Formats: sequence, C-alpha cells, structure tokens
Amino acid sequence: MNILVTGAAGFIGSHLVRLLVNKYPNYTIVSFDALTYAGNLANLADVKDAPNHRFVKGNICSEEEVKNALEAYQITDIIHLAAESHVDRSIEGPMEFVHTNVVGTVNLMNQARAYWKTNEGHTFYHVSTDEVFGSLGEEGFFTETTAYDPRSPYSASKAASDHFVSAYYHTYGFPIKRSNCSNNYGSHHHPEKLIPLMINNILTNKSLPVYGNGTNVRDWLWVEDHARAIDVIFHQGAIGCNYNIGGWNEWTNIDLVHELCSIMDEQLNRQAGESAQLITYVKDRAGHDMRYAIDATKLHEELGWKPSITFEEGLRKTVQWYLEHQDWVNDVTSGSYQAYYNTMYKDR
Ligand code: NAD
Ligand code: TYD
Repeated sequence: MNILVTGAAGFIGSHLVRLLVNKYPNYTIVSFDALTYAGNLANLADVKDAPNHRFVKGNICSEEEVKNALEAYQITDIIHLAAESHVDRSIEGPMEFVHTNVVGTVNLMNQARAYWKTNEGHTFYHVSTDEVFGSLGEEGFFTETTAYDPRSPYSASKAASDHFVSAYYHTYGFPIKRSNCSNNYGSHHHPEKLIPLMINNILTNKSLPVYGNGTNVRDWLWVEDHARAIDVIFHQGAIGCNYNIGGWNEWTNIDLVHELCSIMDEQLNRQAGESAQLITYVKDRAGHDMRYAIDATKLHEELGWKPSITFEEGLRKTVQWYLEHQDWVNDVTSGSYQAYYNTMYKDR
C-alpha cells in the first residue's frame, strides 16, 4: 500500500504517521501537508527519514498539487486529516474553514476518483469530529446515528465535509470510511488548544483563561489511542462504515484545569494550590457547546478497540512532554502566535 496522509504535520496526523511508519515497514507512507501555522515538520522528526516515509508540501485545495502527489507515489489509499481545526479561529474567520475543510475535501476526492479510475482496492478514510453532532445536555451520548446539528463554523465545515464524503459513497460508490472522534490530548498539541495553553500559562505564570463558568464538558482521548483506532478502522472497517471514537472520559473544563494545576504544582515544586490562583474566568466563547460525550460501543464491540491508558497517566505524560520540549513550544508560539493570543484574549 502507498498511503497518502493529509495533515500529517499536525497534532493527530503526526501521531498517526509515526504509528503507520513504525508498524508497517512494507507500506509507503506519504505525508502531505501545507505546513500552515498548525503544521510543523518537527512533529515528524523521528520518522521523516525512515525508508518507508516521504514528505510532500502541498495544499489539499490545489488540483495540481494533489494530482502530482497521487501520481508520483502511486497512491492506493488516503487517510484525510488536513483541516483548519480551531473553533475560536473559525468564529473570527469562517471562510478559511469552508475553503480548507469543505472545498479541500471535495478536491481531494475528485483527484482520487480521477487517478484511481476504479473504486476497487482503495480506501478514502475521512477523519472527523464529534462536534458535528452539536451540543448535549446533562444526559446522553453521541452515537453513530445521532442527527447532525453543528453549531460553530468549524463544526459546520466538518459536517459539510462529512456529508460530501457520504454523498460520494452513495452517488459514485467511492470507497469511503469515516470516524468521528472526541477531543484529543497528548504531545505535539498546538498551544492554542485548552490543555497545552493551560500548561504553558501555568509554567510562565500567566492567567488561565477559563471561558464562561467552566462547566462545559469535553470527553478527552489520548491521541495515540485515536491513532490506534484509525489504524483498526482503516484495516478492518467495511467500505462505507462510520465509527465514533471516544475515551469514556468526561471532564468539566474547570475540573480539568484544576487537575493540571495540581500536576504542575508537583512538577514545579510549587505549593499545593499555587498554580490554581492563576485561574481567571473570562468572557465565554460565542455559541459555546455545553457538552460532548461519545458512546464508542460500536467500535469496541465490532473491532475490539478500547483506550489504552487512564486520563491521569496520559495527563502526566503530556505535562512531562511539554516541560521537556520547551524548544518546540517556543518555536510554535513564535511568529504570528503572540499576535493571535493578544487579539483573542485581550477583551476577555
Ligand atoms: P491540527 O490543526 O493540529 O493539524 C492540521 C494539519 O493540517 C496541519 O499540519 C496543517 O498544516 C494541515 N493543513 C491545514 N490546511 C491544509 C491544506 N489546505 N492543505 C494541506 N494541509 C493543510 O489538527 P488536528 O488536531 O491534528 O486535527 C486533525 C484532524 O482531526 C482534523 O480533520 C480535525 O477536524 C480532526 N479531529 C481533531 C480532534 C482534536 O481533538 N484535535 C478531534 C476529532 C477530530
Ligand atoms: P478547545 O481545546 O478549543 O477544543 P474544542 O473547542 O474543540 O472542544 O477547547 C476545549 C474546551 O476548553 C472548550 O469548552 C473551550 C474551553 N477553553 C477555555 O475555557 N479556555 C481556553 O483558553 C480555550 C482555548 C478553551
């Protein structure tokens, strides 16, 4: 197999590529990424020069760049992760999300259809999010049959891309698989997102901006468990399948931030409770979804997948990674990040 992984230099993409390169020496894994602000070749440093790995800098919206990559590496399968991924940025500028997440996905499928000519023997795997299902109240879970109800520009763009993927399957028999996953955490997570942002701010003694009253709930999954789930579904899921992926691990934002503060107090030899003094409640995110929670029973029962580590263990590993990789953090937060941070948080 020659697998094109889009968004390979991002958070989840880089973990997936690492897994595939190491586990399948007989495959060629082609990392395809435009290296936007969210993409970083350093995320692939340990596998970049492996004999079964290639990197292509390219944009999923470009007919030419996608076509050239498919032809040059005789791509048999695609795992598609490239996207604009941050909800707050989608509120400030939705058009980029429409362009990359919707137009980019459709272009990728068009180029694959043209290059493959037949649907037999190929897979186009679309990596999506549970945010397409909208917001839950206190009870219930998202399942594979939950109706779509996206509420942020980000989730609307991912929902639109899911619908196009499904439409290509029904209309053209295009060989798709899809999964919708809950919030991931782990190493190489961009510091614009909740967990690394809090770790970074605790470390540098900056205030910890908790949106609204902090009671919004997210269902957190160790990123390597997400990569394992994609591997299992890619290899064992039937064409046309969709699976929800989640960690059965719901946390309110405020409890999670307190947990991070206490791990950091320990790691930095601070007094218990010291970091938590930095917590600041700030203006809520517009349209802030209240609760996400995934029921991953189908994936567990049909394909035997389940999360491999506890949240406590995963959070400690995550904190450790950030403390040991301050160069990475400094690199990623240099350039345009500071301006982004100031604009996003100054009026909150
Ligand atoms: P990320 O923002 O860390 O990485 C996105 C990657 O895509 C970056 O490397 C970026 O350079 C690349 N990219 C962006 N636009 C591109 C374009 N036009 N052409 C080529 N490459 C482009 O995102 P992530 O958190 O790793 O998410 C990856 C995928 O998983 C996304 O599709 C996202 O919707 C989905 N997802 C994420 C989560 C999560 O918790 N992070 C949960 C469920 C699903
Ligand atoms: P985020 O990491 O942006 O993921 P998503 O919006 O895709 O779930 O945010 C996770 C939760 O944390 C979400 O409820 C918003 C909240 N949040 C804050 O309270 N403060 C912050 O600075 C950020 C970035 C997020």
